[in-house]
Amino acid sequence: MRAAARAQPNIALIKYWGKRDTDRNLPAVGSISITLADLHTDMQVAEDETLDVDAFELNGQQNAAMLPRVSRCLDSVAGRTRPRLRVTSLCNFPVAAGLASSASAFAALVIATNAALGCGHSDAALANLAGGASGSAARSLLGGYVELANRDAMVAVNTLLAAEEWPLQVVVAITTPGPKPVSSGDAMEISRKTSPFYNRWIEQQPVDLNEARDAIANRNFIKLASVAEHNCLKMHSVMWGSRPPIVYWNSATLACMQTIRELQSQGVAVFFTIDAGPQVKAVCMPDATAKVQQALAATPGVTDIMLSGLGPGATLVPLE
Ligand code: DP6
Repeated sequence: MRAAARAQPNIALIKYWGKRDTDRNLPAVGSISITLADLHTDMQVAEDETLDVDAFELNGQQNAAMLPRVSRCLDSVAGRTRPRLRVTSLCNFPVAAGLASSASAFAALVIATNAALGCGHSDAALANLAGGASGSAARSLLGGYVELANRDAMVAVNTLLAAEEWPLQVVVAITTPGPKPVSSGDAMEISRKTSPFYNRWIEQQPVDLNEARDAIANRNFIKLASVAEHNCLKMHSVMWGSRPPIVYWNSATLACMQTIRELQSQGVAVFFTIDAGPQVKAVCMPDATAKVQQALAATPGVTDIMLSGLGPGATLVPLE
């Protein structure tokens, strides 16, 4: 009645922004991501008869704010008549700052809960359970280059390319370590209801998905760079056009984009992507990593740099 799982966050190259069903948390668009290797969440789930309600601890501290979302996810995996569970999470990177910590957390949580209580869900069902908790979490079940597609009232994830088949590197420039002002889920709903660009965003997504799928199949970095930056800036345009506007960037975010533009003009194989936070993720060819890291570290406002290769999907790990 105890199990542990590890999952890595993923970074969307073709983004999920908007929900077609808020109750079931179904995304309005498909998306394509890369799963990271070096950042991770370790999640342990254990039955505990002494508890009246579930307990959730994040990095050694009780976390009441996240508990309702964690309990809902546990219910979805194990049913509402399940025993009370003690959930312990250890995350080796900043939480809720636009680094997809909810993706790795919920991917690990569904895998660990399924094993701890012997629920016997299939991989496809686990992807939907993870996605029900956080849309991007479904993608962290798999490694490498992952596509999430909408299927009727479900999502389906599949691997486009394994991490080793095209081992790109990611340099994350941290521009502020604090939590984000508005959650991505809330922000998506504001965009859906108010942004004049929202419907065009949804309509155009299949074009970007096709282009990215093709670039990945052919390992065409220039093509992937072009469509990924375009898709990222379109998503942020939808946010900026919302009322109230949703602006996750700060001046250092823009400075990092400028640094990456300069590197590109020198022929360095790198592109940027930015999620619901001010951090900039620079995706690059392995031989460009040192140069990209150095340039971003020297960019005003960058407080920290993290490096990661591409890695595997969520798995069970031995209990501590
Ligand atoms: C900008 O998966 O965090 O990172 O389903 O509401 O939990 P919820 O949203 P979440 O949104 C991720 C948004 C994004 C783009 C992406 O990862 O595709």
